[in-house]
Amino acid sequence: METSNPLLLFLNQAGPERMILLFVGALGLLTILNTSSGLLKWIWVTFLRPGKNLSKYGSWAIVTGPTDGIGRSFAIQLARRKINLVLVGRSPSKLTDLADELQAKYKTQVKTVVVDFTGDLIEGISRVEETINDLDVGILINNVGMSYPYARFFHEVDSQLLKNLIAVNIEGTTRMVHTVLPGMLKRKKGAIVNIGSGAATVIPSDPLYTVYAATKAYVDQFSRSLYVEYKHSGVDVQCQVPLYVATKMASIKKASLLVPSADTYARAALRCVGYEPRCTPYWLHSIIWWLANALPEPFVDAYRLKFSLGIRKRGQLKDSRKKE
Ligand SMILES: NC(=O)c1ccc[n+]([C@@H]2O[C@H](COP(=O)([O-])OP(=O)(O)OC[C@H]3O[C@@H](n4cnc5c(N)ncnc54)[C@H](OP(=O)(O)O)[C@@H]3O)[C@@H](O)[C@H]2O)c1
Ligand SMILES: *[C@@H]1O[C@H](CO)[C@@H](O)[C@H](O)[C@H]1NC(C)=O
Repeated sequence: METSNPLLLFLNQAGPERMILLFVGALGLLTILNTSSGLLKWIWVTFLRPGKNLSKYGSWAIVTGPTDGIGRSFAIQLARRKINLVLVGRSPSKLTDLADELQAKYKTQVKTVVVDFTGDLIEGISRVEETINDLDVGILINNVGMSYPYARFFHEVDSQLLKNLIAVNIEGTTRMVHTVLPGMLKRKKGAIVNIGSGAATVIPSDPLYTVYAATKAYVDQFSRSLYVEYKHSGVDVQCQVPLYVATKMASIKKASLLVPSADTYARAALRCVGYEPRCTPYWLHSIIWWLANALPEPFVDAYRLKFSLGIRKRGQLKDSRKKE
């Protein structure tokens, strides 16, 4: 049968070399398409895709650890969008100051609950439960978290620090979701944002911050599985992955291009609420993530160990000066 289709003609005469050539060509084309569609998707998600209308989830949001850093910026950004707030933090005076400021500036309602996540969690969270009982809570920003004062080997982590890291990062995060989720399921809508960390998901290891990184790995898998469990019940669960943000936890005072301010971070973060199960809101953080993945693991491990050893040395020096 005669054909004028060049591909069929090519195949009709195909020897093994031609088949190989065709195969390699197709593979190349697929790779290019794949890479460029990945790039286009990244541009869409990072810069162009409009954020969800957060009021659609409900008229109230809860933010844990709202008195400083990223949590504080989340609270301000939510109040600006006219969403009422339940602020859950440890410092009564800082909570009242923030509540007064937000009520005056944005004319929204703000309630506060004092909970020290290293203290009696069951009792603390039961007070959160009482507060939100008759509220239409649409959003939970599970932001509270703690790290080491500075880098150290695992055997140097004292048992109090160990207990607190697990209580705040794992148990606090888990119990907050456990308390807030039933109401969301009843209303068939809600967004839960758990703050993870690049320490668990971006770099292959985080030596000298091992327990911190491991608690954040928990947050990542916890969120990811909840996402699948509740996707069809109207509740969007997400783990957000910041790299360095200029806050007191990171011990970085000044924001820069690679280390955004908490405000810059939170603004980007609210734009991805309700979409992917895991997101890296700040655009340069996602590029660093990509780079870190492209480098050989032993190289990143060694770099990271050296980096943390430097922090440990400076921290120990500061400690010994304090004692003198
Ligand atoms: N900054 C970064 O580079 C970075 C990177 C990756 C992930 N993260 C994650 O982002 C989240 C926020 O961190 P951040 O940098 O904004 O930290 P931050 O500036 O230290 O703020 C932490 C907030 O949590 C509160 N908090 C701490 N311990 C608490 C406790 N035991 N009970 C109740 N509240 C407590 C703090 O209260 P006070 O105001 O009373 O201190 C503050 O409001 C954390 O989950 C952290 O792991 C941060
Ligand atoms: C967002 O949703 C709320 C509640 O459904 C609605 O009142 C508001 O007009 C919406 N805002 C925008 C900008 O669409």
